[in-house]
Amino acid sequence: MDEKNVNVRGSWGSNIGFLLSAIGSAVGLGNIWGFPYKMGKCGGLTFLLVYLALAIFVGLPIMLAELSLGRNTGCGPVNAYKRISKKFKWVGWLAVIAPFLIMTFYSVLGGYCIWYIIINLIGIFAGGPAGSASFGAMLTSPIGQIGVMILFMLICWLINMGGVAGGIEKFNKVGMPALAIMLVIIIIRAWTLPNAGEGLKFMFVPGYAVKAGFIEKTPSFISILATAGGQMFFSLSLAMGAMITYGSYLGKGENLTKNSIIIVIADTLIAIMAGLAVIPAAVANGINNGVPVNEIGLSGPGLLFKTLQDVFANMGSLGGVFGVIFFVLVLLAAISSAISLIEAVSVTFIDHASAKGKEISRHRTVTLVSVIIALVACLVAADGLGENGFAPWQFFGMAESKIAGWNDCWLDFMDVWSEGIAMPLGAMLCAIMIGWEKIDGKPVFDRLKGEVESGYSGKIYGFWQFCLRYVTPIGMFFILLAQVDGFFGFGWF
Ligand code: PFF
Repeated sequence: MDEKNVNVRGSWGSNIGFLLSAIGSAVGLGNIWGFPYKMGKCGGLTFLLVYLALAIFVGLPIMLAELSLGRNTGCGPVNAYKRISKKFKWVGWLAVIAPFLIMTFYSVLGGYCIWYIIINLIGIFAGGPAGSASFGAMLTSPIGQIGVMILFMLICWLINMGGVAGGIEKFNKVGMPALAIMLVIIIIRAWTLPNAGEGLKFMFVPGYAVKAGFIEKTPSFISILATAGGQMFFSLSLAMGAMITYGSYLGKGENLTKNSIIIVIADTLIAIMAGLAVIPAAVANGINNGVPVNEIGLSGPGLLFKTLQDVFANMGSLGGVFGVIFFVLVLLAAISSAISLIEAVSVTFIDHASAKGKEISRHRTVTLVSVIIALVACLVAADGLGENGFAPWQFFGMAESKIAGWNDCWLDFMDVWSEGIAMPLGAMLCAIMIGWEKIDGKPVFDRLKGEVESGYSGKIYGFWQFCLRYVTPIGMFFILLAQVDGFFGFGWF
């Protein structure tokens, strides 16, 4: 990488700045929204244990692989893969298309957080915020959703324009500690509600979810495995170019293995903390208001924007204050993830130009990428999760009986190609490339060995090699099948 390109690409100001940014990328809506409701759907503890095992044996090796790939090549996804193996270059493209598609709906969800901050702010002065009915009102307002999406994109754009150290790192250094403090405040509030203990039992006592009637029966082990696998991948920001990109800004002296372990632990901790805040609050509020336990709404995507909003609504004016704190924390999480996705797409163009000996402006690239994302996101926003009459099945003129996960709304349509297919496929091929590919007769492992071992005295290399060769490809293959099954409704699992 020549001097000029390093300047356009930028680099981290410090290791802690990198760590907080990588944790920021990982900690997002997936942790605070997805984790609790998937745990709710799967009935608690089993999901948690499966998730932990997958994070250690599948997530950690891929995290380390992506950071190594980035630092070793000094490039974003496409060029990183290309430099390792021409044959695998197209896998790098998967890791650019996926974050682009993810951003077309992540920005809409980020906009929802802004909407909910406003609702709760109004609630502080109006004697209490509105409850779950707010969700329907928001979804049926295409202009409103487009407006908050654009606001969200503007915030992210401004941060990305600031550069790696001056924008992304600066934001995360303040945003991540603030998020953790706000989460602790919400946990304390949740645990001091009468009957919050029932929510904790739901999470940690084996079999309690079924015994107490929260869910009828625990899903099959294989479907828990699939749900936890998809969730773990998304939550750790893997196979989306983000970690390769962030790794490429990292200095040679930093310890990749230690950093990877810290990122995985921090992401998992925040997800569990989010569960500890959201589930007890929702359960307590449901029981205290006479809602039958099986109707509390723990198990669906409505958990955050409906069930939890009812918790705030039932607390009066003070509910508005907690609502604002909570949705600001979700917004911080969403921004810190979104900026890594925008960065992964933008850096691809910057690297592409530099490989051809040209230099393109970072500002112009980030602006163009952000504008294109926002334009496509208008469709997802206006669709309002399929509420407004032009969901993909309607758009393609399909019968109502043909509605499945991939065509029920534009958000899911974008999600199926990115999270459903590109992400697991990309991760599986990444593991196969590193685990089995040879360059000039030497395994790719050899090239990355120095990255993994630098500064780390513990035994990790053998574990990493074994996982990437055997555990990760097989695990990813099943996750891919499960995602396809989930979106297309084949009923395999
Ligand atoms: N990890 C983020 C979350 O849990 O919400 C989402 C995400 C961000 C996925 C960045 C992928 C990525 F590259």
